[in-house]
Amino acid sequence: MGETVRLQKYIAMSGLASRRAAEAMIEEGRVSVNGKMVTEQGVKIEIGADDVAVDGEILKLKNKKYYIMLNKPVGYVSTVSDQFNRLTVVDLVKKDLGNVRVFPVGRLDYDTEGLLLLTNDGDFTYEVTHPKFNMDKTYIAAVKGGMTVSGMNKLRNGVYIDDGFKTSPAQAEIIDAYDGHTYVKITIHEGKNRQVRKMFEAVGNTVVGLQRIKIGNVELGNLPLGRWRHLTSHEVNYLRSK
Ligand code: URA
Repeated sequence: MGETVRLQKYIAMSGLASRRAAEAMIEEGRVSVNGKMVTEQGVKIEIGADDVAVDGEILKLKNKKYYIMLNKPVGYVSTVSDQFNRLTVVDLVKKDLGNVRVFPVGRLDYDTEGLLLLTNDGDFTYEVTHPKFNMDKTYIAAVKGGMTVSGMNKLRNGVYIDDGFKTSPAQAEIIDAYDGHTYVKITIHEGKNRQVRKMFEAVGNTVVGLQRIKIGNVELGNLPLGRWRHLTSHEVNYLRSK
């Protein structure tokens, strides 16, 4: 279930009338929700899912900004549409959002899972993704085999990828090792294509699984794979102010 608001607030948010005038419209029987007339005040409306009409005309919340966190599964592209018809991250949210169009904020590879932000606010996308804002991104990489102390230190100091680009110092720590794999938590702030995978390649290790768990201090937490939630206003303000 997405964000809900009371019917009179929803009408006010659309810009059609003040909240008080909206209450009068409801009382006068001019308002319907999903095609049924509603004369009771305070009915909960799910933004993006419910249709509200006044005098038969469906209201659109044109100016409302949406900020979403998705737990992206492997096997989805981080675009709105795909030339090869693969599933996209937008496919995972659009049925809940109705006519609201959101776009991914930055990108996760097809074979990477975890925290991906989506929004219809272009300024927010700029503020979160532009390199000058140095947003930290934290991943858990599942690496084949073991990691050497020297490999870990190289990751921390910066390694060469992409024909001579040296990555900035990263935080990296081993958090687990079992079944022939080592799990490394790594925080970087650049966003070169396949950067984490290339960094491990540069020290002789292969990443076999990659999950993003954090952007700045905004955490994926226990959001199930393939599910999304609205960011809190605190999270939005924090990400904007970075
Ligand atoms: N680094 C990668 O290698 N892949 C991602 O999806 C994100 C960061």
